[in-house]
Amino acid sequence: VADNPENMVARPPVVTIMGHVDHGKTSLLDALRQTSVVSGEAGGITQHIGAYQVEQNGQKITFIDTPGHAAFTAMRARGAQATDIAILVVAADDSVMPQTIESISHAKAAGVPIIVAINKIDKPDADPQKVRTGLLQHEVFVESMGGEVLDVEVSAKKGTNLDKLLEAILLQSEVLELRADPERTAEGVVIEAKLDKGRGPVATVLVQSGTLKTGDIVVAGDQWGRVRALVDDKGKQLKTAGPSMPIEVLGMQGTPGAGDRFAVVENEAKAREIADYRQRLAREKAVAKSAGQRGSLEQM
Ligand code: GTP
Ligand code: NA
Ligand code: MG
Repeated sequence: VADNPENMVARPPVVTIMGHVDHGKTSLLDALRQTSVVSGEAGGITQHIGAYQVEQNGQKITFIDTPGHAAFTAMRARGAQATDIAILVVAADDSVMPQTIESISHAKAAGVPIIVAINKIDKPDADPQKVRTGLLQHEVFVESMGGEVLDVEVSAKKGTNLDKLLEAILLQSEVLELRADPERTAEGVVIEAKLDKGRGPVATVLVQSGTLKTGDIVVAGDQWGRVRALVDDKGKQLKTAGPSMPIEVLGMQGTPGAGDRFAVVENEAKAREIADYRQRLAREKAVAKSAGQRGSLEQM
């Protein structure tokens, strides 16, 4: 089922955070999540579901809460482009480091625009200008250097300029003109999945197009299920989840893999057929691989 051009509407941007070790990726994600908890409904308990949404001036932004590299490599390996914008976190007291450079090449290879968050500006030895010139050498040209890449000086620790960072994301998002058809059959990508003692298999998915509903039959990787419940990042049960929405799906028969595609199918028979086929393929691949290993051992 394809998009209907007449049904296309704006959708929130999906953002991942990348950068060198200890430059503050987790701190920044936590700080941004904190702002959404404060502005959200009272009593809303924030779940740790691997992705969440914040609101800035009534506009939503989706953050994928897995370490940027893992998310990018797992998802890109499966051809699942989940991210619209990459936030490159660079600590102002440490500047451009090897994983900063790696992050830049990941984002460039994926064709995902970068926004630079110059973090730790609260530190006495912070040197944001050194970060900008450092990035210049890797062809990331921020605005003050004559380029078009947005950069924001932040402190995840003190909560400085987080609103400016959100504004920059919305600005970049406008340029990208992100749209989706909420009417079509839902599909998207698995962010993570786990086996929960009480709830059974739980898959956190990002809906990329269409609207996922309770009762839908879904196939995700080599697993299938009937959606028993949809739970958002605040722990709230929802009936539907539209484009760019991260949501926990309950009711899968097993746990799919991070980066697996998911899609709604017509009925259970079809779902079983696809899942069985993919499981058989996976088994055959595993057998062929171990036979290959045996073969090469015999040649030794
Ligand atoms: P890895 O996931 O291990 O790569 O690290 P990370 O990039 O997620 O960094 P993390 O958020 O764990 O922060 C690393 C250290 O920097 C921690 O001790 C944080 O408290 C500290 N830190 C993060 N942001 C700031 C900041 O804005 N200012 C200051 N002063 N310290 C910060
Ligand atoms: Na760390
Ligand atoms: Mg971290």
